[in-house]
Amino acid sequence: MPKISVMPKNIPSELLQAFARAGQDHVFRFWNDLTDPERDSFAAELREIDLREVAELAATRGEAPFRGQREPAPVVRLGEEPRGTPRTLAAAHGHRLITQGKVGVFLVAGGQGSRLGFEGPKGCFPAGPLSRKTIFQLHAEKLVRLRERSGASLPWYIMTSQANDAETRKFFESHRFFGLDPRDVMFLPQRMLPALDTAGKLVLQSKGRLFQSPNGHGGSYAAFKQGGALADAQKRGIEQLFYFQVDNILVRIADPIFVGLHALSGSEMSLKVLSKTGPEEKMGVVAIEDGQTRVIEYSDFSRAESEARDSAGQLIHWAGSIAIHMFDLGFFERVAEGAIQLPHHLAKKKLSTIDTEGKPTEVDGIKYESFVFDALPSARKSLSLEVARREEFAPIKNKTGVDSIESAHALYIEEHRRWAREAGLEVSGELEISPLAALDPEELRERLAPESKGKRSGSVLLDPDADGKVRARSSALC
Ligand code: UTP
Repeated sequence: MPKISVMPKNIPSELLQAFARAGQDHVFRFWNDLTDPERDSFAAELREIDLREVAELAATRGEAPFRGQREPAPVVRLGEEPRGTPRTLAAAHGHRLITQGKVGVFLVAGGQGSRLGFEGPKGCFPAGPLSRKTIFQLHAEKLVRLRERSGASLPWYIMTSQANDAETRKFFESHRFFGLDPRDVMFLPQRMLPALDTAGKLVLQSKGRLFQSPNGHGGSYAAFKQGGALADAQKRGIEQLFYFQVDNILVRIADPIFVGLHALSGSEMSLKVLSKTGPEEKMGVVAIEDGQTRVIEYSDFSRAESEARDSAGQLIHWAGSIAIHMFDLGFFERVAEGAIQLPHHLAKKKLSTIDTEGKPTEVDGIKYESFVFDALPSARKSLSLEVARREEFAPIKNKTGVDSIESAHALYIEEHRRWAREAGLEVSGELEISPLAALDPEELRERLAPESKGKRSGSVLLDPDADGKVRARSSALC
């Protein structure tokens, strides 16, 4: 945007000076057109802008493509016993940590969910294939059940963003926190970062507002500290954090094997990986680069690298990260304190803005984000655990096609059919198991009422009754 010829009046002088010094005073172009409350709110927004950081962002050019050799990182494969730590031992240890109240749960839900195109926070999307329970409810009920099972009050930290914080809080309040104690749920708004045009200038989204967007899931660390969660977790004696994303409805929250393996191995950060469907699947891969374990974005791999296979015909870079992590709280704190710096990633986008007349238009610009997994190379020790895709991964990212509502429903139903089959119930139609009924097939086997076993046609919901038994109901009756 060109420089302003006549400077508007009544701009708070400290703001004007700071922005002029930084070469960003074009943001005041429409100041005279704003009402007093609009000026106040714009001034408040501008006061939050760290102009030194803006200069750093403008100088960020993105990572140079890696030209060296990447190797696959070691992974605890499915069915393999890590040396000295059988899975049963790990599960028992994980249970113990949960029961002792040493595990907290951290959900990132600050994203914009633009691909799904759903109005409102993605967690409010009705995702239960039969029950139409929202994503937040499905996650919350898993926590309710975990608490019933363990007797521990696992605190739930939820990262939101400016765009969805108020709505998310209201949603939880209006649903009475889905049975959770509100004192154990904490919302943590993440920071926003301004977008810049290709000349490094701040962009106006409207006359009295900058174009800003959430600072990426890498904003988790700072949000955790600034929102008071770090202090809360320390007060409660939390030692380990289970981290997950809002859109995966098959996530096994605080899965004891993962919790236990992570803790017993002394890892500071652990991740769950699964075998990619093929080289083209858009998933970050865990690999060793210059001697450091990293998650590398699919877009940072050359085609030849993603397609490379070993002598058995298996993909060399097969291990896709599903963004489920365990963190040692001390490590999380080190990143939150800034002892470990995360790089900014650039995304070139068309930005909605206004022209010199104040009319809506678009410009080429850059959004900046940091990624939670960029802390991995700084962990003194890390662990990657392979899991079965069908058991743990059903993300809702898109409206249709890959990782869509449709595909997630199909995966959810299929996995629940497997649990039911193992518990003695064969369902020919659709099936949804309430998280309040069972969190895994073993639990369903223990809780399924004898009269609900056998064969059933039509759509079936499994819910717990007051006697603790799980019974089948025809979904048409619900
Ligand atoms: P995605 O990368 O899928 O992005 O986020 P998104 O914003 O949800 O969706 P699109 O790309 O606009 O369609 C993965 C996870 O990280 C969280 C999201 O809420 C989701 O759980 N996230 C992402 C944040 O919490 N903050 C961010 O700034 C970005």
